[in-house]
Amino acid sequence: MGMELNQSDILNPMKVLNDWMKEVSNDGKQPNPNCFSIATTNREGSSNARMVLCKEIDIEDGYIVFYTNYNSTKAIELDYQSECSGVFHWDNYGYQVRIKGFALKSPRDESDDYFLSRSLGSQVAAWASEQSNSIGNRKDLEKQFDATLKKFNIKQKQLMENDQKLPRPPFWGGYRIWIHEIEIWLNQNDRFHDRLLFQRDLSLKDGRYISTKGWIKKRLQP
Ligand SMILES: Cc1cc2nc3c(=O)[nH]c(=O)nc-3n(C[C@H](O)[C@H](O)[C@H](O)COP(=O)(O)O)c2cc1C
Repeated sequence: MGMELNQSDILNPMKVLNDWMKEVSNDGKQPNPNCFSIATTNREGSSNARMVLCKEIDIEDGYIVFYTNYNSTKAIELDYQSECSGVFHWDNYGYQVRIKGFALKSPRDESDDYFLSRSLGSQVAAWASEQSNSIGNRKDLEKQFDATLKKFNIKQKQLMENDQKLPRPPFWGGYRIWIHEIEIWLNQNDRFHDRLLFQRDLSLKDGRYISTKGWIKKRLQP
């Protein structure tokens, strides 16, 4: 990407998101270059934001994927209101990407495959945590971890060796956020930044969102 955003050069904004994330990841300076915030809405209409990790970007179909606990607060809120929004920000590069979209649970086999790729310790942790529920203290939480080790007959040293796999918990998996709006933002001098907004209509068909007309773009003032 050059020093400015050229409207006519960018046909698919998802490719910019992918390129920027690759660039930051390849530099290796940021521990979680794939993190982004996701804001959900609860029944009372108030918003709720937190960071998650983007594990896939589908440039052609226009969705991104993150994984979480399906009983968590965010999952309950997404069940109620699937429309959500998010922000990626890479400060060292002057990049910001904002998204709005509809969240749908990932296909089960995709969540299975991703869960299999995780370390044994992370797999145990996914089973051991009732994400977003309260617990008395850290010790009680560790007891739940130990109880999970016992349940699956895993010895502590196997965690280091990482040579065993667990099945995916039914309450854990991915969400695809099908993006209908994405803004690419590039830092410029004097706070006179570049902003390109891309929008498309989406309709739900057979568990996927499709767009017939594709992305419409406009430049926004900084
Ligand atoms: C950098 C970073 C990455 C995170 N990635 C995830 C993630 O991929 N999935 C997840 O469920 N929580 C992730 N978390 C934790 C969430 O921010 C949040 O604490 C948790 O999901 C519970 O949110 P909820 O109670 O609103 O559902 C991450 C936190 C940070 C700081």
